Parts: sequence; structure tokens; C-alpha cells
Amino acid sequence: MTQAQGGAGRLPAHIAIIMDGNGRWAQARGLPRTAGHRAGADAVRAVVRECRRLGIPHLTLYAFSSENWNRPKTEISALFGLLLEFLGAEVPHMEEQGIRLRVLGDLDGLPLAQRGALRHAMARTAACADMTLNLALNYGGRAEIVRAARALAAEGLSPESITEEALAARLDTAGQPDPDLLIRTSGELRLSNFLLYQCAYSELHFTPVLWPDFGPAELAAALEDYAGRSRRFGKTREQADGC
Ligand code: FPP
Repeated sequence: MTQAQGGAGRLPAHIAIIMDGNGRWAQARGLPRTAGHRAGADAVRAVVRECRRLGIPHLTLYAFSSENWNRPKTEISALFGLLLEFLGAEVPHMEEQGIRLRVLGDLDGLPLAQRGALRHAMARTAACADMTLNLALNYGGRAEIVRAARALAAEGLSPESITEEALAARLDTAGQPDPDLLIRTSGELRLSNFLLYQCAYSELHFTPVLWPDFGPAELAAALEDYAGRSRRFGKTREQADGC
């Protein structure tokens, strides 16, 4: 929706994470890639809990991109198996902790069992108001923008009423603040089609740590990096500092 103001010295209202490096983590240990994803799912649990503890209101995790369908079938089914396990184990905890689950991406393109489990989890946590966990699944940033543009066209909006706010209100993140902080693990320096519209003013934090090794200490380092940034949103440094 709108971008959070300020930022320096404050906690982000929305953290988005590109969780990368599961395969390399496994390879370094002589394990199959799926073992890396399992360790990655454990890291997801730990980071969700830590964000809840810190009071971060929105967390978005890039769990499966629309390009990830190109991976070997066995890896895809392992990932979707882990998703079901995660939902089965975590949804009761999420409900208890006031964490609402949302899905970003094309839910209808997911396998039936996962679609059903996600719908059930979203319904069960719909009234939770302390934190929102967005799982980006079968997600691509360009496809999301196209879906939003199609929604505007289908509603018959006049060209003048197509504003940034109107488009943002039709994105999968409608009603949520834009990410203040985008983290990518594993040393890769790319956005990989993630939240292209929403990350216009996000602060970027890249770490060489592989996702399964990313825990509360690495999150604290990212938050410290963020707290030291001067967020200007196009203003001069003096204007941004409120002088
Ligand atoms: C990238 O690592 C990671 C993914 C494509 C999937 C992320 C999935 C998880 C963290 C686990 C399951 C998630 C949930 C929500 C239960 P990579 O495999 O591309 O690593 P590599 O670049 O080292 O090969």
C-alpha cells in the first residue's frame, strides 16, 4: 500500500526475504538438495518466531517462484511436502500467536492438497491481527502486476482513475505496507522477480549466509544494518532528516 515513513533507528514494519542457498548448504555437507530444503524449513520456523517476538507486523517469504517449476520433479514434490508439514505443525502455533497467513501468487496453480491446506490455514488465521506472514508461492512479480492490470481493466476503470494506489490495491499485498527491508541470503545480488512493484523504496540487505544458517543473530545483523540507513524517498538528505 503506502511506504512506511522514516526507518532509521526503527524496526521495519515489513520485512521481505529471498531465502536462497538451501541447495549449496546441502551440497557442502554431501547431502541431497532436499535435505537443504528441510533445514530451510526449520529456518523459516525460527525466523517467523523471532519476527513475532520482535513485533515485526509483516513478514514475506519467497518460498516458490513461478520459475521454480523448472526444477526436477522430485525436488518440487519435496518442497510441497515440506509446505504441508509446515502448515500442519505451525498453523496452531500461528493462531495462538496471532499470526495471519496470506499467500502471494497464483494459488490456483498449486497442487490440490497444498491449495486446500493453504485455504484452510488462511481461514483459520484470518482474524489474527498481531502479525501477517505472507508466503509467496507460485509467485512472480511481473505476473502479479499483469494480474492487477487485468483486474483494473475488468472493472472498467477510466484511464484517469488508474493511479499508483489503484494498482497497488489490486496486488496480492493489497492493504499491507511496502517492504521496508528486503533481505537476500547466499550472496546472490538479484531481485529474481520478487515484489517488483512493492520494493521501489525498500532498503536492500544482502548476506553471504546460506538460508538454512540464517537465524535470530543474522536477522539482528540485518535489522542493525537497516537501522543505520537514511531513508530519503527521493528527498534531499536534509528534508528526509526533517530539518
Ligand atoms: C532457494 O534455495 C530456495 C528455494 C527455492 C525454496 C525455499 C524453500 C524453503 C526455505 C523451505 C520450504 C518452505 C516452507 C515455507 C516450508 P536453492 O535451492 O535455490 O539453493 P541453491 O541456490 O544453493 O541451489
